[in-house]
Amino acid sequence: MKQLTWNQRSKKVIAQNCNTYSKRSDQFVEGVYNTHASNGYSECLQLSDGKEVVDYVCGLGSNIISCSNNYTLPNVKEVILAEKIVEKFPCIDKLKFLKTGSEACQAAVRIARAYQENNIGEQFSGMGTGYHGWHNCFIASEKPGTGTVVELYYKKKNLNEVINCLKTYPHSYQYVIIEPVELSMSGFHIGKLRQIRKLCTKHDIVLIFDEVITGFRTPHYCMSNYLNIQPDIICLGKAMANGFPLAVVGGKAKYMDTPGYFISSTFAGEVTAIENSFHTFKTLTKSALRTLWNNGIFFQKNFNKIDDRLSLYGVPTRAIWEGDELIKAKFWQEMYKEGYLFGKAWFIMLAHTRPVLIKTLKVAERVLKNIDNVELEGELPKEVFKRNHIEKRKDR
Ligand SMILES: Cc1ncc(COP(=O)(O)O)c(C=O)c1O
Repeated sequence: MKQLTWNQRSKKVIAQNCNTYSKRSDQFVEGVYNTHASNGYSECLQLSDGKEVVDYVCGLGSNIISCSNNYTLPNVKEVILAEKIVEKFPCIDKLKFLKTGSEACQAAVRIARAYQENNIGEQFSGMGTGYHGWHNCFIASEKPGTGTVVELYYKKKNLNEVINCLKTYPHSYQYVIIEPVELSMSGFHIGKLRQIRKLCTKHDIVLIFDEVITGFRTPHYCMSNYLNIQPDIICLGKAMANGFPLAVVGGKAKYMDTPGYFISSTFAGEVTAIENSFHTFKTLTKSALRTLWNNGIFFQKNFNKIDDRLSLYGVPTRAIWEGDELIKAKFWQEMYKEGYLFGKAWFIMLAHTRPVLIKTLKVAERVLKNIDNVELEGELPKEVFKRNHIEKRKDR
């Protein structure tokens, strides 16, 4: 069988065949130029066929010393990583790489709206529930939202409100963006997700799952896989390159192939983040993800036995603190003095091995036993956004 070229492989998995428009094959002398780079050093770019060229596009101006990380042409690793993601995420036929979760969510909304505009020819609004990044379309309805432009986006309090709107005004919405699981994985919550999936399918409303947090933090790589509820478009980010900036917007070809939308970023295919995502995939084997999950259960369960007044609530690898604000602040303060950094969001990583967790729990127990004798020596932590915890508690 004839081997596909890099450009043919790229067209199969990368939406619009580009993460960066100006790097795409049709921006050069197509048919003569090699379409993909495999390496770069000093003034030279090494192409996928081994040819070396002196590069005067300098990674679209991003290379000022030499070309070692962000090549002028798409790099072959972008294609290989995209293929890997498509293999592991059944809801993704095609994707685009970006740098941040905010970009991925903004891109998802743009693609959903482009798809609907092409289909229906009209602009309706979208709705969501949680935090989906700092871009206009999500923040205009938040406080502080100063300086934003209002967009056709409505923030709903919870999934019940989303369901009611989908039932009452199905033709008013083009897309729904939600985190499939923020904190609750109760049967009740999952039932609501399934209902939203059904309603969106019925009314051809694009369902976007923001898995910027849950992606790569859940067995089977994401909540949609774990719960077997697939969105139309998914957003990934945060952990996917283990702290290096990389994000993904991906979905079924039907959406990702919508003609006419524009999403492109100079650094989208930059090599270091892509390589670190390979490393993340390699490390997060099925059993590593299971270990991470079980360690999270272990820590939360044992922590929550210590003192009724302070607990962790959420899914095994991501939680928030519940309890008295003063006790929480005093607990963080004392743990900090002992060499532990806690903050509003609680997350776990593979480096938190069982011995680390057990030691932390021992110190936490000692600190909490003495918490009533402790004074707060600094300021109470401030809120950026008011999250709707009460509603989430009801969801359990
Ligand atoms: C669920 C969710 N979506 C999107 C974002 C935005 O991601 P970023 O901060 O990488 O832009 C965040 C950030 O915390 C998030 O929690």
